[in-house]
Amino acid sequence: MPVTTPPQTYRVKSFGCQMNVYDGERMAELLAERGMSAAGEGEDADLVVLNTCHIREKAAEKVYSDIGRLVKAGGDKAPLIAVAGCVAQAEGEEIMARAPAVSVVVGPQAYHRLPEMIAEAMQGRRSTDTEMPADAKFAALPARRRVGPSAFLTVQEGCDKFCTYCVVPYTRGAEISRPFKVLLSEAEALVEAGAREITLLGQNVNAWSGADVRGRALGLDGLIEELAKLPDLLRIRYTTSHPNDVTEGLIEAHAAVPKLMPFLHLPVQSGSNRVLKAMNRSHSAESYLALLERFRAARPDIALSGDFIVGFPGETDAEFEETLSLVAATGYAQAYSFKYSPRPGTPAADMDGQVPAEVMDERLQRLQAALNRDQLAFNQASLGKRCDVLVERRGKKPGQWLGKSPWLQSVHFTGDAAIGDIVELRLESAGPNSLSGVRAV
Ligand code: 5AD
Ligand code: SF4
Repeated sequence: MPVTTPPQTYRVKSFGCQMNVYDGERMAELLAERGMSAAGEGEDADLVVLNTCHIREKAAEKVYSDIGRLVKAGGDKAPLIAVAGCVAQAEGEEIMARAPAVSVVVGPQAYHRLPEMIAEAMQGRRSTDTEMPADAKFAALPARRRVGPSAFLTVQEGCDKFCTYCVVPYTRGAEISRPFKVLLSEAEALVEAGAREITLLGQNVNAWSGADVRGRALGLDGLIEELAKLPDLLRIRYTTSHPNDVTEGLIEAHAAVPKLMPFLHLPVQSGSNRVLKAMNRSHSAESYLALLERFRAARPDIALSGDFIVGFPGETDAEFEETLSLVAATGYAQAYSFKYSPRPGTPAADMDGQVPAEVMDERLQRLQAALNRDQLAFNQASLGKRCDVLVERRGKKPGQWLGKSPWLQSVHFTGDAAIGDIVELRLESAGPNSLSGVRAV
């Protein structure tokens, strides 16, 4: 549908993982740099970017229904629609063919070209860019100007692991590490723009490698140590890690770098060695648990998080029980759990023994009940303790603030504070998803 007046306002809707949230922020900055402004809450935007996720479920179908809704709601003033993210990467040509309302399809490695592609769309030329050049995108993005106290920084992208259920190696491509120098200057810019905490992002963030200004080889631990030298950066986190890329140095960093928060997101997916093998995870339940012990030895209060898949093809009741045993042995502070979803083009989608939906539902419910119990127990164990909370935003009630504990728990409190402060609280009550505290005296 040709649009004649250039878009003045935009809305970027990001789905899925934190890397998509980061990409969505960068796309918004790119559009703002070209003079567009963000559409207000409830306001129609002239340009809508659907920043999609392809990891589970009927992601593509959801994109088509979102497009349909935008067209219907807009009537003859329907917005210009761009589809970005992993569905764009995986199904770009199909989207163009099936949805004439879409003007631009842009993959996760090409979104720096979004403004240019929008300009082409204005001239009636719909375009698709799903090229995957290494690192061209980042160089073309504008400097970061305004961010909240907790900011994301993508340091690594892509994945070479090829777990048999996962679409990421196909949509995000091979592992690449952004160079140390550009990360240092982006981190400095984030801190200058108000960030007090930076979460380093990557599909396999602990596979990051680079070299410092003197050419010394660095791993993720070295990067963390260097960033910790920025005086106004108070907290560092990283996610998501793969068990096979954990180094002794990273474990030691949890003991040696006070700014590195005591939190580890280390997906395991299953507690059954047979299932892990079929998933091509190349670690066992035992080696995973042994790894957690080493993190605990370095940082005894470390909070653990993980990802789980139930109903992988061929998973038996007994194998699912092994997942529950691993959960019980670990005591997660929080975790994500999903029903297996066959992804077209992945090896597991063609495996025998696809598990019926009712069985998956029941397993997911049992797993989530166990994880919720552990999460509440973890939060309750914090009661009466003092803890530093990074203030992120105002709460709903007057004088109320919301922030995060070092263990990534949401904490609210009332009193004098400002966004970006770290305040010391005594934790007084705990629910499954948040805690409340009072200023410690
Ligand atoms: N089905 C269900 N869950 C999946 N994940 C990745 N691929 C699939 C799939 N096909 C989950 C894994 C991964 C998280 C990001 O998403 O648990 O760690
Ligand atoms: Fe997907 Fe496995 Fe790579 Fe994680 S490590 S992104 S689950 S292929």
